[in-house]
Amino acid sequence: MTQDELKRLVGQAAADYVLSNVADGAVIGVGTGSTANCFIDALAPHKRRYRGAVSSSVATTARLEQHGIKVFDLNEIESLPVYVDGADEIDPTGAMIKGGGGALTREKIVASVAEIFVCIADASKRVPVLGGFPLPVEVVPMARTAIGRRLTAVGGVPVLRVTNDGAPYITDNGNEILDVKNLRIDDPRAFEVAVNAWPGVVTVGLFASRGADFCLLGTESGVETID
Ligand code: 5RP
Repeated sequence: MTQDELKRLVGQAAADYVLSNVADGAVIGVGTGSTANCFIDALAPHKRRYRGAVSSSVATTARLEQHGIKVFDLNEIESLPVYVDGADEIDPTGAMIKGGGGALTREKIVASVAEIFVCIADASKRVPVLGGFPLPVEVVPMARTAIGRRLTAVGGVPVLRVTNDGAPYITDNGNEILDVKNLRIDDPRAFEVAVNAWPGVVTVGLFASRGADFCLLGTESGVETID
């Protein structure tokens, strides 16, 4: 199977999970990226069962609205039974790197409110230790260089994310992203707490303190559930 086929497989599996476990009329939390898009597409035919969705990015909002799914502001919502999102890397403890699509801050906020966080990914995202994928860190622009120095001091190689025309990539929240190469993250929880504490860091793309409750992993032999 191709990577796209594996993504569609887990997108469908996540929609099946939601349809079987989440009560009609609920609002669903929806992540960002190509795998999350597969989930949106699989859920869309059943949209009348649900009130709508809380979105983690401008891009996801657009896709939900294309399908005619109502998008709620998180401030309007009292509870979110489930949040479904992809990941860039997943370690054996379930800790993840996220933010390859630049939506890490809103993803972390929506995930923090959800009762259940379902991670969906193709098997290539499973790694023994996090850090092969550059760790995204969203920063307030004036803190970019100061945070870059701190990341260098802990052995990382921070690279400012840019668009195709070379301009700094700007997040949905008006900030910049440093993608940090050369890290080996043996203790994701401790590293998440440490980097979060640096003034100017908006969000570090480590989802360890609040990781997924379970992952649906697309493999050649089907969907594997990892608790
Ligand atoms: C976006 C994310 C995505 O979940 C992550 O980048 C995985 O993306 P894809 O499903 O396209 O591989 O964190 O900010």
